[in-house]
Amino acid sequence: MSEAASTRTPVALLPSLAPLLHEWLPRQRWFAGKGRPVTGFSLVSATELLPVEGPGAGLLHLLVRVQQPGPPAPSTNDCYQLLLGVRKTLPPYLAPALIGRPTEGPVAGLTVYEGLHDPRLAELILERLRTPGVLGALRFDRFDRGPDIPGGLTARPLDAEQSNSSLVYGDAYILKLFRRVHPGPNPDLELPLALARAGCGRVPAPVAWYESTAPEPYTLGVLQPFLRGSEDGWLLALDSLAGGRSFTAEACALGRVTAEVHAALANALPTVMLRRPQAEHLAAAMSERLDAAAQAVPALKPYAPRLRSAFDAIASLGRHGRAWRAQRVHGDLHLGQTLLGAGSGGPPGPTGSSGSSGSSGDGHWSVIDFEGEPARPLNERRRPQPPVRDVAGMLRSFDYAARTHRPWDPAWAERCRTAFCEGYAEISGADPRTEPELLRAYETDKAVYEVVYEARHRPDWLPVPMAAIDRLAALT
Ligand SMILES: Nc1ncnc2c1ncn2[C@@H]1O[C@H](COP(=O)(O)OP(=O)(O)OP(=O)(O)O)[C@@H](O)[C@H]1O
Ligand SMILES: [Mg+2]
Repeated sequence: MSEAASTRTPVALLPSLAPLLHEWLPRQRWFAGKGRPVTGFSLVSATELLPVEGPGAGLLHLLVRVQQPGPPAPSTNDCYQLLLGVRKTLPPYLAPALIGRPTEGPVAGLTVYEGLHDPRLAELILERLRTPGVLGALRFDRFDRGPDIPGGLTARPLDAEQSNSSLVYGDAYILKLFRRVHPGPNPDLELPLALARAGCGRVPAPVAWYESTAPEPYTLGVLQPFLRGSEDGWLLALDSLAGGRSFTAEACALGRVTAEVHAALANALPTVMLRRPQAEHLAAAMSERLDAAAQAVPALKPYAPRLRSAFDAIASLGRHGRAWRAQRVHGDLHLGQTLLGAGSGGPPGPTGSSGSSGSSGDGHWSVIDFEGEPARPLNERRRPQPPVRDVAGMLRSFDYAARTHRPWDPAWAERCRTAFCEGYAEISGADPRTEPELLRAYETDKAVYEVVYEARHRPDWLPVPMAAIDRLAALT
């Protein structure tokens, strides 16, 4: 690759791509601004990872701001990471990756396509990650204590519904490329790195990563070991429900793992105490979210006063001198963010309750995706928070799992919730249920968020959080 080629940022590039991106971008699974028109693009950075004039495929790395009118805000200006392949003609196997053929600008007459679907280009990204250094606007880095990354691994895109894009290399590594990017350290690199440095084995340790160097620092991609053959906790839970099996051993193990990760995060990164001002601020923020949600989903309105009392209780405890420890947390913990390692037992036999020894309850669970809730601003996601927030997330997840099954078995979720808290207490020494006000406030806040999400995106699912709202409102 020529160094000169890697640093050029032709002014005419984006205008020539804009008509194609207008069509293509809103159709991408990871595009967060669906349903609102795109009114303009601006280029944040462009790096030619592989020259586009060469005989084979070229690869352009772009950070592009996408202008859209609101809501949520009066207008948004989100920044997206694009990896565009450029060829004279597309081979048939890349036809589904086609973006279009610009008629003007530096790639006029060439074919532009989703570069991550081209194994040769995906392999080139791994080559860059193997050799740390700066290339154009990008800086590639390696974990100082990791083994060498082998070359020549074949690449395939991960076939999963996700809000970013991941590539799997030879079933040995997975590279997550963040799509909607925010300036500042992404917790999905920051936290796993801190945990790896602290020797916590519950999170796949980052092996390499890349960031933009200018004009603002954006975390763009993280390479981690691929946990081949692992199964995620959500599917395992649904499997247990379908098979009429208990999931309490798994829930208990997940409670222990969560407490382990929390302990490691509290040791590795700063912790703070939340006192009166922070408690009042927290309660006010939760109340505001509730008000906005009740505006958006009228079904919430009758519950609002009783739900608000959960938040008022936090402010009141703060005023009476109660303080809570806050630390860095996962921020979006649910069953789908956990992976049970291959050979960890799997579902027990037809007669067995999963509480028996050798079940997946005892297997090796890992926690992934420390991005936090992508809809929240990055500075908020990186703030220390009470660890009970993650507990609440997981408790809501058991509820969701139970609700997917007919007939609905609320006792299944209740047993999982109890087992999770017991497992958590085994490691941390404190059962999250001994802070009932905080747990209730976080569960309520989460259920309110879910109501808005489901009303907007999956109305069929709305009864799931509404049932939780009904239960939580009755706890006053
Ligand atoms: N280290 C790993 N080993 C094996 N599979 C993994 C690993 N990391 C992630 N996965 C798989 O990739 C999927 C997507 O990963 P991840 O949740 O990090 O992406 P995401 O874009 O943040 O997804 P979402 O939009 O659901 O939050 C996971 O559900 C899991 O199935
Ligand atoms: Mg995510």
